[in-house]
Amino acid sequence: MIRSVVTGVGGYLPEEILTNADLARFVDTSDEWIRERTGIRQRHRAAPDQAASDLAVEAARKALEAAGRSPAEVDLIIVATTTPDLTFPAVATIVQRKLGCPVGVAFDVQAVCSGFVYALSTADGFVARGRSKCALVIGAETMTRLMDWSDRGTCVLFGDGAGAVVIEPGEGRGDASDRGLLGFALRADGTKQDLLYVDGGVSTNGQIGHLRMQGNQVFKHAVINISEAVTAAAEDAGVGIPDVDWFIPHQANQRILNGVASRLGLDESKVISTVAEHANTSAASIPLALAQGIADGRVRRGQLLLLEAMGGGLTWGACALRL
Ligand code: ACO
Repeated sequence: MIRSVVTGVGGYLPEEILTNADLARFVDTSDEWIRERTGIRQRHRAAPDQAASDLAVEAARKALEAAGRSPAEVDLIIVATTTPDLTFPAVATIVQRKLGCPVGVAFDVQAVCSGFVYALSTADGFVARGRSKCALVIGAETMTRLMDWSDRGTCVLFGDGAGAVVIEPGEGRGDASDRGLLGFALRADGTKQDLLYVDGGVSTNGQIGHLRMQGNQVFKHAVINISEAVTAAAEDAGVGIPDVDWFIPHQANQRILNGVASRLGLDESKVISTVAEHANTSAASIPLALAQGIADGRVRRGQLLLLEAMGGGLTWGACALRL
């Protein structure tokens, strides 16, 4: 059978770093509070002239280089983002133009922090059915643009960045020893919208809006929902949680990461955590963490990875893959 194999990974973080101490100069907060409650020490912020597509292009270039592919070979681009350059066109078509990719398929996926997992599953539908030979799946966010800087409960949590993977078809035997995307579980519950949303939009008030969140409620749902989805994705792939080499979660809060790992019986040494340096970069956080794990030599080809995320919607989901 044809499997969708991740053949290259790349990440990009904008230059400017905002530490907790930097924020404490204009927000009523402290480094101690932020580190204790979230594990976050700093976040990156895009320059005023950098849009989501600019971050995406940088990450995509690195992923293509790692895969040994050129923009001319890309026939599908999916960008997971909740902070697009423009209301339309899709960031994916802007990335296509900036990279110089030929005419192909390009569109965005909007599932907030779960966007990258949703986008991977969407790409699998193209690649595993023979409809794409070289796909770029990108998570790219400028979350700092959605912050209400007077709301200390949210503005300390988010950062900007992008991560990308190249996905190509590969022959598999149809069992869990195959390289590629092996199993998924995607979920959404629209009744929980009020827990996490942006209070602006094209067809409501015509504003960009600000991110609003009932943090403690989101926290409660996160650990339970994510654990269920991770277990379901592992089952879908035909693997057991103890078989997993690396757990690469959406990086929202170190306490959520620890809570999920403990509920799943996963040793914390198997968790890739970048939340301290990157904060929550929404749809970009999983591919950024994956890129970091590969760059520092921990995550290697052939290993079994479990990715998961939860975000606004509420949406959540997980993916089991062999690199
Ligand atoms: N600095 C100092 N004090 C603060 C800050 C801050 N930055 N933020 C909140 N506080 C205060 C509150 O005002 C409150 O004070 P009070 O008791 O005097 O009223 C107190 O801290 C406790 O507030 P809580 O909101 O109950 O604090 P909690 O322990 O729940 O931590 C946090 C807040 C960190 C937001 C936590 O709830 C959380 O991480 N939730 C999950 C959020 C998340 O992961 N969101 C992203 C997932 S989806 C996505 O990525 C888009």
